[in-house]
Amino acid sequence: MVRLIVDTPGGTYPVHIGQGALKELKPTMARLEPTSAVIITDSNVIPLARSVGKLLKGARVKAAIYAVPAAERSKSLAALGNVLAFMERKRLDRGGCVIAVGGGTVGDLAGLAAATWLRGVQLVAVPTTLLAMVDSSIGGKTGVNGLRMKNAIGTFWQPAAVISDVDCLATLPRNRYREAFAEVVKYAVAMDRGLFEVLHKDSERLLARDADALEAVIMSCATAKALVVARDERDHGPRALLNYGHTAAHALEATSHFRVSHGRAVAFGMRVAARVALTLDLCTDRLVNAQDEMLSTYGLPEATPSASLDRMMAMIATDKKARRGRVAWVLPRRIGYAEAGHVVPRGVVRRVLRKAIA
Ligand SMILES: NC(=O)c1ccc[n+]([C@@H]2O[C@H](COP(=O)([O-])OP(=O)(O)OC[C@H]3O[C@@H](n4cnc5c(N)ncnc54)[C@H](O)[C@@H]3O)[C@@H](O)[C@H]2O)c1
Ligand SMILES: [Zn+2]
Repeated sequence: MVRLIVDTPGGTYPVHIGQGALKELKPTMARLEPTSAVIITDSNVIPLARSVGKLLKGARVKAAIYAVPAAERSKSLAALGNVLAFMERKRLDRGGCVIAVGGGTVGDLAGLAAATWLRGVQLVAVPTTLLAMVDSSIGGKTGVNGLRMKNAIGTFWQPAAVISDVDCLATLPRNRYREAFAEVVKYAVAMDRGLFEVLHKDSERLLARDADALEAVIMSCATAKALVVARDERDHGPRALLNYGHTAAHALEATSHFRVSHGRAVAFGMRVAARVALTLDLCTDRLVNAQDEMLSTYGLPEATPSASLDRMMAMIATDKKARRGRVAWVLPRRIGYAEAGHVVPRGVVRRVLRKAIA
């Protein structure tokens, strides 16, 4: 088991990673001394939430469980209202603690509930998807979706601890597990060459969910995210690097009405971004090929989604990260190093996209 400390203006906290990391729950509770706790989970993760509940009992903390339906639509103001009403019914006071047991959906929702209940109570994250372990549980972004806009309503609220026990991943469906590797490859290509090599060398073990191999990879990703978040908690600058692959990904997700999953969209988006970089002579075709191969190894093969070129171009122009109509691309220079803030001529984007979609 390994431990990482995340240090941000909004809070400093440990991330416990590895097989059996849940045994850190007891000492975590001893440190936080909550008056009581609620566990927020979703309908697919109830067995894990119950195990967490049992561990809390051993730590002499009483915790009631609330499960939202397992679906992205649970990231809504209506679901937030239900969670807050539950906390009120359970009389969670200002010394109380919210424990999020689930993937990024539960994490974002429970995080926002913790941030707003009584103007903020303690939050402990127990991520149960690979995506949540490598990405969403770290950094303090919480939120729910607006009527149309994803993550439109939210706040920054850092957890008091994150406990990433790889045993929790055993029941995760295969597709969900593999898609998370899009974000893992993102960290590797944009920030961490060593991680890229590990992904190459350990692919079989990782695809078989080997605990030791996973521990090392989750640690690398969590470290990369923690480094960026420490410098830019509120997403005004360096945090943009984490957006590698996400410019075209968001456009594809939106034009497909979210039929393409986030992981597949990010894999597509990284392929596009690397080809944009190649066209601008910012990287070599060796990078493009190495990234392509890596994505395919992890079950994210090249796909040419059917999408309208004009709609994709229009979506990219309205990218959330665009300022005054200028889209800032994150482009890779070499494996392990990408740069944020590239303004790319529309003609280049169009040409690359035309080849990438059917
Ligand atoms: N806050 C951030 O910084 C941040 C970053 C990235 C993504 N996100 C958000 O995270 C969400 C996606 O998260 P996700 O990919 O973890 O999806 P998710 O939370 O929706 O979980 C995916 C599915 O797996 C199920 N599941 C979760 N854990 C399981 C387990 N151990 N065994 C079996 N089934 C399990 C869930 O019930 C769900 O059906 C999105 O809403 C996205 O916006 C947030
Ligand atoms: Zn993402």
